Amino acid sequence: MTAADRLTKDGIRLFNPEDFVGMAEAGRVAATILDDIASHVFVGQTTGEIDRVITKMVDAHGAKSATIGYKGYQHASCISVNHVVCHGIPSDKRLKDGDILNIDVTVIIDGWYGDTSRMYVAGKLGRKAERLIQVTHDSLFKGIEAVKPGNTFGDIGHAIQRFVEGHRMSVVRDFCGHGLGRVFHAPPNVLHYGRPGTGPVLEEGMFFTIEPMVNLGRPETKILADDWTAVTRDKSLSAQFEHTIGVTADGFEIFTLSPGDKFHPTYAT
Ligand code: MF3
Ligand code: CO
Ligand code: CO
Repeated sequence: MTAADRLTKDGIRLFNPEDFVGMAEAGRVAATILDDIASHVFVGQTTGEIDRVITKMVDAHGAKSATIGYKGYQHASCISVNHVVCHGIPSDKRLKDGDILNIDVTVIIDGWYGDTSRMYVAGKLGRKAERLIQVTHDSLFKGIEAVKPGNTFGDIGHAIQRFVEGHRMSVVRDFCGHGLGRVFHAPPNVLHYGRPGTGPVLEEGMFFTIEPMVNLGRPETKILADDWTAVTRDKSLSAQFEHTIGVTADGFEIFTLSPGDKFHPTYAT
């Protein structure tokens, strides 16, 4: 057993200070790709073309896509438009004015996984969609602010749920964040709802994602016949933001911060 094999009683891996360097590099590349794809999102564009550009960008960074070949998935991104909650498959369908979309990219660099997603808009952002995106974005940061040693995963979920429901929107229960590091998905499941003080206790050296999905309507989802695409049952709009983070001695490090400060879709274009 080496220091790299430290596991908590909940089976959550604890990483070492030098591992934060690897994660920061993988996270930076994933976030840079999301910055650079912004100019490829416009009315009339297809999500398939956006994905082809992402595939080339992953390659240009000397990275590997974590999603190509993952459980049979064949694309370098998931692109989830309007009422698609997550795992939208890039296609030849064209974006229409006012469409909102989440683009989710995971890359592997030197064996480390960087996983991040954010929202984009084609054309003019509608008022309801803008509110949904703002609340979803801010809910992620409410969750991140709860990250420090001694707090619990329930504290993170509670902070997100309380904020979202306070704005009369709903948190999706059917998908969660996840531990990661040198694998894509590891313990724990990071729920975006919960009760304070419940769940595993956070410790320095944990790596995981927080990736709340928020619906304007009800929280229930269903999977389409393609066995991937998750949509809201009531067809209401859904949004999501995702960061990969590490727990530090006194808080957190966000590995997937936007180098161009473009994480929020209302940045000046
Ligand atoms: N990146 C997604 C996540 O946040 C997982 C996508 S898996 C895929 O966990 F196969 F659908 F790409
Ligand atoms: Co993820
Ligand atoms: Co992701």
